[in-house]
Amino acid sequence: MAKLLELAKEKKGVFITGTGTDIGKTYVTALMAKYYKEQGIDVAYYKAAISGADTIPESDAGYVKRIAGLEQPDDSMVSYLFREAVSPHLAAKINNRPIELDKIVADYKAVRDSHEFTVVEGSGGIVCPIRYDEEKILLPDIVKALRLSVIIVADAGLGTIHNVVTTAAYIKNLGIEIEGVLLNNYIGDLMQKDNYYMIEELTGLKVIATVAPKGETLIF
Ligand SMILES: Nc1ncnc2c1ncn2[C@@H]1O[C@H](COP(=O)(O)OP(=O)(O)OP(=O)(O)O)[C@@H](O)[C@H]1O
Ligand SMILES: [Mg+2]
Repeated sequence: MAKLLELAKEKKGVFITGTGTDIGKTYVTALMAKYYKEQGIDVAYYKAAISGADTIPESDAGYVKRIAGLEQPDDSMVSYLFREAVSPHLAAKINNRPIELDKIVADYKAVRDSHEFTVVEGSGGIVCPIRYDEEKILLPDIVKALRLSVIIVADAGLGTIHNVVTTAAYIKNLGIEIEGVLLNNYIGDLMQKDNYYMIEELTGLKVIATVAPKGETLIF
């Protein structure tokens, strides 16, 4: 709890990444945004590139908007929306619509500057190509261009120790600051309690909160 409030006091935004695609970044981000709103913080959502959705209301952005009750205009939440459920670099190629870092920075700044705190969701895991033609953009280039630190969302179950430790090492190696970990689908059985402990031990990071299966709030 303290960590998230501290973040909103000290910084203008945070980047939510995960140990992989489909790990629950959007699910957890929605609960984070809901939490901030309940704390009286004017929170916004932004995702640079969304693949696999026809419209913004049907996308990650629409989900977060509904769950957290955000009043933010749809078109400020996303810079690039692609129908194809493939990596942004491929979706952009298929649609002949190259992703521009300058547009992402400008769109993010517009959201950031009109809200107290912005939660930025990444596409996929931390290794995600955004543009790969004569110009090359990988997801961490966006994190750096937006000058954000990151939170890692991970599943609480089997395999998570490896996934969090390798993701955290990769991110640290790029010189990007990590604020902590959010453990999704946490039921707190013997193995999961040990996962929680071992992640903190092996990464030196803190688990900021957990989210239960079908959870409606972050648990601190
Ligand atoms: N704690 C949870 N309880 C119930 N369902 C969950 C939970 N976390 C995630 N899910 C479900 O798992 C699926 C994947 O989650 P989500 O869309 O949040 O992943 P993601 O990491 O944002 O994926 P992407 O990489 O596509 O953005 C969704 O159907 C979501 O509703
Ligand atoms: Mg998502």
